Amino acid sequence: MSNENDALYQNTSMQQTLEKSAARSRRAKWIALGSVVGLVVIIGLAVGLGVGLTRNKSSSSSSSSSSSGSSSGGSSSGDPVQTDPNDPSSFEKDPNLHKAFYGLAYTPDGAIMPDCGAELSAVIKDIQIMSQLTNRVRLYGSDCNQSALVLEAIKQTKVDVKLFLGNYPDITDDSVYTRQRDAIKEAIQTYGTDHIEGITVGNEVILNAVTDANTEDPNGSAGNAAGEKLVAWIKDTKSMLSDLGVDIPVGNSDAAYYFNKLVMAEMDYGLANDHPWFAGVSIDEAAEWTFTSFDEENVQPAAALPNKPKMYIAETGWPTTSADKDSLTNSGGADASVANLQTFLDTFVCKANKDGVGYFFFEFKDEEWKRIKYGGVEGAWGLTNEDRTLKDIKIPTCTAP
Ligand SMILES: *[C@@H]1O[C@H](CO)[C@@H](O)[C@H](O)[C@H]1NC(C)=O
Ligand SMILES: *[C@@H]1O[C@H](CO)[C@@H](O)[C@H](O)[C@H]1NC(C)=O
Repeated sequence: MSNENDALYQNTSMQQTLEKSAARSRRAKWIALGSVVGLVVIIGLAVGLGVGLTRNKSSSSSSSSSSSGSSSGGSSSGDPVQTDPNDPSSFEKDPNLHKAFYGLAYTPDGAIMPDCGAELSAVIKDIQIMSQLTNRVRLYGSDCNQSALVLEAIKQTKVDVKLFLGNYPDITDDSVYTRQRDAIKEAIQTYGTDHIEGITVGNEVILNAVTDANTEDPNGSAGNAAGEKLVAWIKDTKSMLSDLGVDIPVGNSDAAYYFNKLVMAEMDYGLANDHPWFAGVSIDEAAEWTFTSFDEENVQPAAALPNKPKMYIAETGWPTTSADKDSLTNSGGADASVANLQTFLDTFVCKANKDGVGYFFFEFKDEEWKRIKYGGVEGAWGLTNEDRTLKDIKIPTCTAP
């Protein structure tokens, strides 16, 4: 295992730990937020109903700008203009956007338990913009009704976007898998399969299991134990689909080095994270490193298997800033900057399209909740800012397959 993998391994597992503690503190934040709003309402009622409503309204609108649930529900400068306010398909196209990307990685605001709150109006705006950048969108999970919301947004905007739905399970709690499987099933029953290109079961399950066991080998005993669990879930999803009489590829997602052999034998496709930023690669070598490590670590091993799962890059991209000065530069001396995102776009996107590399660019927009809760570069990977305005970048003009 190379130094690059070591860096990736450490950074990704650190990310996981951060994500877990972030989930806890986000829950605490919502409880606190709820009591503040509640208190304001009570004060308002005591003073008089009119005053109460006014104060409650201003309280919830100021708090919503710091929550993931509703920050993009309102209008902002990046929102597409609709010629008919009642018809989401009547949005105006932005001449700066091109369908240059094979796919985009996307998490709607308010789509992570227990802080659900994803809103159709916000998802519609996201889809209106994403549909001008790509034909494919990858979701990570199916909690908070996100599969149905995105399919509904595609229906209402009438855009040509296909989804890779996700089931983000928890190895310690089968019900997390089951509830997302049922949500996916219901979404298929409601919306059909025309806009679904895959269902990804598992995100970094092997990475987490192997890291928790203080080992590194995805094919060792800890990796195999988690792999068996994943295989059971993948088979279960396949049988749910066959009961419905539909045929959709079922895949898995993990960090590039962490594909387990049992899982590889069962998955129809694999999504592998390849992050030059976290691997400490300089910006000049970032695109080449991504192509090489994806090919060596994922494409070639998968092609050697009897079932030949199709491999995609699950995430790759470049952050444009950091919430703290310490992490503004990666271990290879490259900065998180808009200029470097532009370089990565210019060196990666059109070459990947030309070479037939399937990838999900990470990611559609800056995520406010990640910036607040994880700090560092976590909230700054978007092509757009948090308000959906395009960053100061030029989208490559090649067209993705
Ligand atoms: C999920 O979203 C769809 C599409 O907007 C909506 O029709 C449905 O009522 C939602 N379900 C729940 C439980 O919120
Ligand atoms: C795990 O096993 C798979 C399938 O044999 C193989 O392609 C992959 O390289 C192995 N992973 C490691 C890190 O050895």
